[in-house]
Amino acid sequence: MRALVTGGAGFIGSHLVDALLAEGHQVCVVDNLATGSRVNVNPSAEFVEADVRDLKEMVGIGQRFAPGIVFHLAAQTLVARSASDPLRDAAINVLGTVNVVQAAIAAGSRKVVFASSGGTVYGNALRQPVPETEPLNPISPYGVSKVAGEHYVRVLCAQAGMARTILRYGNVYGPRDIPASQHVITAFLYTLLNGDRPVIEWDGEQAKDYVYVGDVAAAHVRAIDAGDGEAFNVASGSEISVNTIFRQVCELMGVSVEPLRGERRPGDVRRFTLDCAKADRVLGWRPATPFADGLRQTVDHYRRQADPRRYVEATPIVFH
Ligand SMILES: NC(=O)c1ccc[n+]([C@@H]2O[C@H](COP(=O)([O-])OP(=O)(O)OC[C@H]3O[C@@H](n4cnc5c(N)ncnc54)[C@H](O)[C@@H]3O)[C@@H](O)[C@H]2O)c1
Repeated sequence: MRALVTGGAGFIGSHLVDALLAEGHQVCVVDNLATGSRVNVNPSAEFVEADVRDLKEMVGIGQRFAPGIVFHLAAQTLVARSASDPLRDAAINVLGTVNVVQAAIAAGSRKVVFASSGGTVYGNALRQPVPETEPLNPISPYGVSKVAGEHYVRVLCAQAGMARTILRYGNVYGPRDIPASQHVITAFLYTLLNGDRPVIEWDGEQAKDYVYVGDVAAAHVRAIDAGDGEAFNVASGSEISVNTIFRQVCELMGVSVEPLRGERRPGDVRRFTLDCAKADRVLGWRPATPFADGLRQTVDHYRRQADPRRYVEATPIVFH
């Protein structure tokens, strides 16, 4: 099938592109390289540098490539940035999503798959792990933009007779994430590789749901032929604390470091895990990568990438 992936030069999108190509699909990536990079894009995919805020260009790309399916991952992804600049967040995440769906309709696509966020659309959910039936009650502009995106995808696709699936990810980790994402695992790794002391915010006992990026990509592939009209949590279903992550990262890096302590991040929640039974039942998807294995693959990736002038593999770093 011909698959269009917005945000395909980014962290999760580039793994999705690899997974689609491995399954024999033809792929076109649309990305404005705001946080993504050309080096992430598999050379077997077509690449178009474009902004999802540009409706005319999106429609033109859709009509030329004529995708059977559109995976919409391009987004402004920072919760803090959504609070400081909600207009920009909404322009990319809400209006950009409307544009991408319009382009899919104009291209005659069969289906749209939308990247949503299980960590933000439910807000402070009462039940843990959170099932998909929990009310959507976001507490950040980013969460609001993802809920709005979900509703636009649902309503516009229904009006056009087009299938759609919503995937609500947990905290995704793995190779190709960048420190600007402010994701805790990537931040710890980059800081250690630079010979600095990572900061643990709050008391480090906050515990969340972490899912390996390769597993998230696999859920999208499952959604090509299943899950029409439904929303699914895509996560691990279990929680792991920031302190535990820190210990495991240090062990894998072979370093002994006393972390710095920081304030609680505004709006941070104490716990969140997602119930993924529906994805198992309907998509036949479950997270295949145990946290220890995914973390090892991630650490290996960043160590290979590290600047050897800054990090010497054989020498353990000991900070006091
Ligand atoms: N990483 C996570 O833990 C997580 C969790 C839940 C949801 N998500 C969602 O997954 C998707 C992918 O996120 P990611 O973590 O890979 O982040 P990312 O920043 O690596 O990927 C986003 C991509 O979108 C591109 N982009 C941004 N604005 C654009 C625009 N206006 N036009 C075209 N392209 C644009 C960026 O250049 C980047 O390549 C996003 O929709 C994000 O909200 C991520």
